[in-house]
Amino acid sequence: MKAFRIVVLPGDGIGPEVTAEAVRALEAVGDRFGVRLEMEFCAIGAAGLATAGEPLPQETRAAVVRSDAVLLGAVGDPSLDTAPLHLRPETGLLALRKLLGVYANLRPVKLHPALLDRSPLKEERLRGVDLLIVRELLGGLYYGEPRGRQPGRAVNTLTYTAEEIERVARLAFEAARRRRRVLTSVDKANVLEVSQLWRETVARLGADYVDVRLEHCYVDTAAMRLVTAPGSFDVLLTENMFGDILSDEAAVLTGALGLLPSASLGPGPGLFEPVHGSAPDIAERGIANPLGAIASAALLLRHGLGLEEPADAVDRAIGAVLDAGLRTRDIAVPGGPVATTREIGERVADWVTQAVSVP
Ligand code: IPM
Ligand code: MN
Repeated sequence: MKAFRIVVLPGDGIGPEVTAEAVRALEAVGDRFGVRLEMEFCAIGAAGLATAGEPLPQETRAAVVRSDAVLLGAVGDPSLDTAPLHLRPETGLLALRKLLGVYANLRPVKLHPALLDRSPLKEERLRGVDLLIVRELLGGLYYGEPRGRQPGRAVNTLTYTAEEIERVARLAFEAARRRRRVLTSVDKANVLEVSQLWRETVARLGADYVDVRLEHCYVDTAAMRLVTAPGSFDVLLTENMFGDILSDEAAVLTGALGLLPSASLGPGPGLFEPVHGSAPDIAERGIANPLGAIASAALLLRHGLGLEEPADAVDRAIGAVLDAGLRTRDIAVPGGPVATTREIGERVADWVTQAVSVP
């Protein structure tokens, strides 16, 4: 039997507790479907700084590059907010993305029917919300050179090459093809040269995907449309910084940030992590929602290891747990029952273990 090597990076804050439940789901998959998933735990973020003095320790680097997929919890620690950038937990995550070459970040945002009333938007606005954000992850302001600070002046550089735009756009077109065949490319081409190159490159590629309807949208309009007509998006493609901002906006549409997973893909091992952060204010209290981490494990099975049926089983288990009314505090009905992080994880694992295969 082929064994898959998964590197698990629990990270900071609620990272370790939600990741433990994602690992529980993966173990259930191993039992139920007879796949061998070998898990190796390594440090990142503040945990890396504490144990090895750097946010992405050498040992972690070595482990991830020889893995089949990486599962991450969260990074971030408010006590390090004023530390220089190279000693911040977030820098470990940026270095990890670069090391793995994961240029496309996929953030699916789908409304679970049982959670409609959790959303800050009115129910009628939410009809049909099922979108996929494809965020470019290795370029733009996050990595552009030159960058730096001088007294009273600071610089960051926004730069993209046509190749960088093309590879992520191709992935977005392919994703649109498997969905409702609409691709919205988001830019600021009325102001930025980089956005003009972005728009031209995406439009040129569109000729290869005549079955996908391509539209271009300015980022400010896209931000507005996300709250006025979120159901009008299918796949939303954008650059790194715009994608960072718009994906948080899209995430709250569901009213359940804790439920949302993400996949970061490139030529090698993929990186899978919940969209939420380290939430230090609720860490180690057993109240964090593990479903975003568990859904990320499902994406890992599907996109990272190509295991469709086990991935479906995990997704269905999440749905079953929500349908059964089990809720962590963040999505609980006011005054209703509240389950712990671990209770949710155990129920998901039970469902996976009992999963019947789909004909
Ligand atoms: C995210 C996060 C990261 C980002 C931070 C933690 C560096 O906000 O994954 O969206 O900005 O990319
Ligand atoms: Mn973000």
